[in-house]
Amino acid sequence: MRFSKALAALALAAVALASDVLDLTPDTFDELVNPEPLMLVEFFAPWCGHCKALAPHYEEAATVLKEKGIKLAKVNCVDEADLCQKNGVQGYPTIRVYRNGEHTTYTGARSVEGIVSYMTKQSLPAVGSITTEIFNEFKGADKIVALAFVESASDPLAVEFNATANKHRDDYLFGMTTDKEVFEAAGVTPPAVILYRTFDEPVTEYPYPISSLTADDLENWIKDLAVPVLDQVNAENYQAYAQSGKPLAYLFLDPSDAKKEEYIDLVKPVAAKYKGKVNFVWIDAIQFGDHAKALNLNEAKWPGFVVQDLQNQLKYPYDQSHELEAASLGALVEGFLDGTIEPSLKSQPIPDEQKENVFELVGRQFDDVVFDDSKDVFVEFFAPWCGHCKRLKATWDSLADRYADVQDRLVIAKMDATENDLPPSANFRVAGFPTLKFKKAGSSEFIDYDGDRSLESLVAFIEENAANSLEKKNESAPPPPTPEAQEPLGHDHHDEL
Ligand SMILES: *[C@@H]1O[C@H](CO)[C@@H](O)[C@H](O)[C@H]1NC(C)=O
Ligand SMILES: *[C@@H]1O[C@H](CO)[C@@H](O)[C@H](O)[C@H]1NC(C)=O
Repeated sequence: MRFSKALAALALAAVALASDVLDLTPDTFDELVNPEPLMLVEFFAPWCGHCKALAPHYEEAATVLKEKGIKLAKVNCVDEADLCQKNGVQGYPTIRVYRNGEHTTYTGARSVEGIVSYMTKQSLPAVGSITTEIFNEFKGADKIVALAFVESASDPLAVEFNATANKHRDDYLFGMTTDKEVFEAAGVTPPAVILYRTFDEPVTEYPYPISSLTADDLENWIKDLAVPVLDQVNAENYQAYAQSGKPLAYLFLDPSDAKKEEYIDLVKPVAAKYKGKVNFVWIDAIQFGDHAKALNLNEAKWPGFVVQDLQNQLKYPYDQSHELEAASLGALVEGFLDGTIEPSLKSQPIPDEQKENVFELVGRQFDDVVFDDSKDVFVEFFAPWCGHCKRLKATWDSLADRYADVQDRLVIAKMDATENDLPPSANFRVAGFPTLKFKKAGSSEFIDYDGDRSLESLVAFIEENAANSLEKKNESAPPPPTPEAQEPLGHDHHDEL
């Protein structure tokens, strides 16, 4: 019994010792990662469930990939918190593919087979060698295909091109040719880079002096051209537009409209003119009618057009009572870009009277109430459909009741953020419901409330943050002394008047 236990412990120790996953520390990280042409690194925390589930797969994949000369490593972010922070690790596990110290995010499956196949693919050249036989097939093999034409594979252009290709091997298809017959077939004089696309201009040659082309130039050029001038936006590609952070101009169309193509052709030149500054899309107005409404297109009348400033969540709709015409569209986009037109702000009407202690705030009154510097202000931004908001209501009411006597110094408010837009003066955006924001009297900063939603915690938060005194005025305080009650000025008193 004892013997077998000891043996088992030994066997376990042997397994631990035999791990093919490298443990990285601040001392070894650069030394081990930087020279590797290809390496997988997992940043993990011992308590993280997904990391635990991945561990046996990661171990086994490391053993398989060792045969192919591909190393797997891990960093324990509890032991090496500084190292993980320095590397910008924000969640667990964070898995990255490193190539000579430069990393990309691992997007493969978290299984032995997944890791092995992903890393094996990563170890193949990111740049295919293109011969005449495959040239025609290759240039149409994906939505975006970049092909470098060079006299020699060691040309300086090849170095930059390969760097971009390695970084974006999962995003686009890359090829290189040194074949004279391909130069002729493509009608190209090397050195050159050509982008083949299945949309917009099908063939685009890199326009700048190619001799000074860097990997970054190439990357930016491809990224720009990868966004169509005016594509249809839907659930699949929306994220790509959102992540670009650029303003998004929508053409809302009824797909069954006979003039659909005509409208697209009308907007396209405007889209082309502002390409790189504003992304343009068209969208199915019937399927995404609610989205149109959220963008302040209030009539179900198509086509509609609106520019959305995604960073600031501001909306600039085209006047729906006017026909769509290119010149006015251009003027709207131009005015948006140079800041000469105002965003459209949705607001409920200002209530005739405030019936409850919770102040019913609407968009139109936001600046007057929230930026009243004499008051501390605590606002709940809610949506009528939000369950957490409904549960908070009674507490929020009690909070306002509690401070009812000091409404001249502290406003407890609520705003329906689905019916009221925040004006540009609010330097934050509501991203979830409920959102609770506090503004101290006299300050222009908003403080997030992210504590629990109990009355006690909310009160404690207010008491801690309020700039004004929240003491009730003492109504039962003795009246000011009458002249009779005043002590006569005597010689014991210095003249302090
Ligand atoms: C670039 O990649 C191609 C294709 O893999 C290869 O033949 C060439 O040697 C590489 N050139 C440089 C300079 O790395
Ligand atoms: C109000 O004034 C009375 C009489 O001076 C005093 O006894 C009481 O403590 C005061 N209450 C508060 C809340 O300050």
